[in-house]
Amino acid sequence: MERTFVMFKPDCLERGLLGTILARFEQKGLRLVAMKMLRITPEMAKQHYAEHVSKPFYPGLEEFITAAPVVATVFEGPEVIRVVREMLGATSGLKAAAGTIRGDFSASRQMNLVHASDSPESATREIGIYFKAEELLAWDPSLACWLQAPGEA
Ligand code: PPS
Repeated sequence: MERTFVMFKPDCLERGLLGTILARFEQKGLRLVAMKMLRITPEMAKQHYAEHVSKPFYPGLEEFITAAPVVATVFEGPEVIRVVREMLGATSGLKAAAGTIRGDFSASRQMNLVHASDSPESATREIGIYFKAEELLAWDPSLACWLQAPGEA
């Protein structure tokens, strides 16, 4: 069982797409275990995008990610890191395949609506930036037995 950090970015909230996109993860049967609305500070942005801080596009990325609230979430499930990345599609909405979230709703590399961890190491690091351990809720939805057969997870 894996956990992944999924963040609905400022463009998602500004465009009123939070419910629509969150529904796709719910409909897939992914288990939500943490959720928080917040405004990212420049300091948090530098921590989150540490590997990109020295890149030419970083100042614009920081301005964008701090411009309006975000909704930070954690989802849990088997292979959930890969599953969520595939649901999002390629980083640029212009290149993302139709049927993916970015392919259907974004035409931008920066304003690509949703961020998701790309590896178990990134997931642990990113979850740690936004959530305390006690904010992650372990629970068993009643419908879980209709989403996966015993032993699949
Ligand atoms: S990825 O998905 O991590 O492999 O993509 P990557 O190309 O490494 O990009 C990482 C994040 O930086 C943003 N980005 C950009 N923003 C603005 N301009 C340019 N040129 C640009 N290139 C990359 C991109 O939206 C990624 O944000 P996240 O939050 O990781 O999706």
